[in-house]
Amino acid sequence: MLRTHNCGQLNMVNVNQVVLLSGWVQKSRDLGGMTFIDLRDRYGLTQLVFNMETNSELCMQARKLGREFVIQVKGIVAERQSKNSKMPTGDIEILVNEIQILNVSKTPPFTIENETDGGEEIRMKYRYLDLRRNPLKDNLLLRNQLSFEVRSYLHGNDFIEVETPYLIKSTPEGARDFVVPSRMNPGTFYALPQSPQTFKQLLMVSGYDRYYQLVKCFRDEDLRADRQPEFTQIDCEMSFIEQDDILNTFEGLTRYLFKKVKGVEMSSFPRMLYDDAMRLYGSDKPDLRFGMPFVELNELAQNKGFSVFDTAELVVGICATGAASFTRKDLDGLTDFVRKPQIGAKGLVYVRVNEDGTYKSSVDKFYSEADLQSWAAKMNAKAGDLLLILSGDTHPTRKALNELRLEMGNRLGLRNRNTYAPLWVVDFPLLEWDEESGRYHAMHHPFTSPKPEEMHLLETDPAKVHANAYDLVINGVEIGGGSIRIYDKDIQSRMFSLLGFSEEDAKSQFGFLMNAFEYGAPPHGGIALGFDRLVAMFGGSDSIRDYIAFPKNNSGQDVMISSPSSISDVQLKELNLVVKLN
Ligand code: AMO
Repeated sequence: MLRTHNCGQLNMVNVNQVVLLSGWVQKSRDLGGMTFIDLRDRYGLTQLVFNMETNSELCMQARKLGREFVIQVKGIVAERQSKNSKMPTGDIEILVNEIQILNVSKTPPFTIENETDGGEEIRMKYRYLDLRRNPLKDNLLLRNQLSFEVRSYLHGNDFIEVETPYLIKSTPEGARDFVVPSRMNPGTFYALPQSPQTFKQLLMVSGYDRYYQLVKCFRDEDLRADRQPEFTQIDCEMSFIEQDDILNTFEGLTRYLFKKVKGVEMSSFPRMLYDDAMRLYGSDKPDLRFGMPFVELNELAQNKGFSVFDTAELVVGICATGAASFTRKDLDGLTDFVRKPQIGAKGLVYVRVNEDGTYKSSVDKFYSEADLQSWAAKMNAKAGDLLLILSGDTHPTRKALNELRLEMGNRLGLRNRNTYAPLWVVDFPLLEWDEESGRYHAMHHPFTSPKPEEMHLLETDPAKVHANAYDLVINGVEIGGGSIRIYDKDIQSRMFSLLGFSEEDAKSQFGFLMNAFEYGAPPHGGIALGFDRLVAMFGGSDSIRDYIAFPKNNSGQDVMISSPSSISDVQLKELNLVVKLN
């Protein structure tokens, strides 16, 4: 070994020992007759000392070392005169008597410090240098700790990890597939899995009744802070279970992780119907760190002469506690916020519930004090609160009010990163209508079971059918989702035909699964948690990119390796892809 200890390990116990350390030169300081170097490795920093008086040659050698040189030193551990209590090795230093340069380094394009001077672009290009910095290193260590604990919990609950293939046929999860041309089968393509959905169901048919996999999934969709084109799922499936068993098992996993990794005890997770989540929060992933539920005001606010409300399908508001002190400017700011094209509201009505019991609203012309008082009562408002009200068609109005609620949560400081509000959202609709294609799409995926008691509506009133499908939501982030599956061939066929598949299409795309269902498929269901999102949540960030060693940028590129990139004509030809000849 090129070292006897690492750079985060030595303390007073080691004083007078002769040690060998290897690492990177973090920084060096010349102070009169002494030179100090901070030597860094994955484990920490250790201070090296060189004395001009006792060994001028070595000291001169040390002064020539550049930042990020890789060196090995031999020396004696000594107690420091001025100790640094902030560092685990801050009580000692190494009196060096031999240096060996293991490798030189160019000056890095940005400082390898906790706070760096490098911009996003350059750090992505030199990701391997960025990964030397503590914040990113800590993120990867957190990821490692979480994956270890996930495996430990699932192993302890009889789950076995089974790998499924990456070169497959498209799985219908709703995003676009990444495809890979097959050289040996001209004109055909593999698809990279959007998830191992069909394979894990086949494993249930094979009898592996508790499966899991920390698995890469690939989706060609528009990127956001919480989306990468390749990401990792904690993918699971169980047989001979009901929905409650899945929820309990994965609530158990989540609580185990929070306890083990963050020391946070979570009480049992509330369960909310999808319909209630939409009605009360305008979102299928409500942030429950704070209240501010929606209150519908149609009955109280319509037919009083205010045509905007009178013609609206929905009049709905939130009560922001203590926000009556918002100034006119604040309220104009909120109006501009809801009018942004991505939010899409036409305007915002406010009512201040003043401390003296009077009301001031933006619609005083149309409503009496008594009217406003009745709204305030319905919204449980107290003196000092602010009512914010939107109106319009139900769906877009709820969506806009959801954004406004989250914005108010931010402005009022109610979205603390160290508070965790998990919940299960259950009973999602089975289908959603897609205007563009003019047909129903599966809201989760086509293998999700309709609720048995609503099965009779499948052909007559499909929009009314709910599914045994659930999402795990924490602090307004969709951490995971899953469902109880169809395991009967005939129901699966009915589902495919509802989704507009001809019998032939269904057979050619999913024949393997339907065939498998004829050989004793057990009742089964499962879930997948987004591992990157879970790690980012534990790290207190919204952006998953900082928790992935080599992520893609917002255009789906890896600028370090210049990917995606064109390939040679020879490769194109080999793959039987058309080559444009000049
Ligand atoms: P679903 O599509 O809901 O379910 O995905 C499960 C979870 O994966 C995470 N996720 C992502 N994370 C980062 N980048 C992305 N592009 C991305 N897309 C999804 C989310 C999400 O909740 N096969 C089903 C699961 C099942 O039914 O068992 C599935 O994949 O956190």
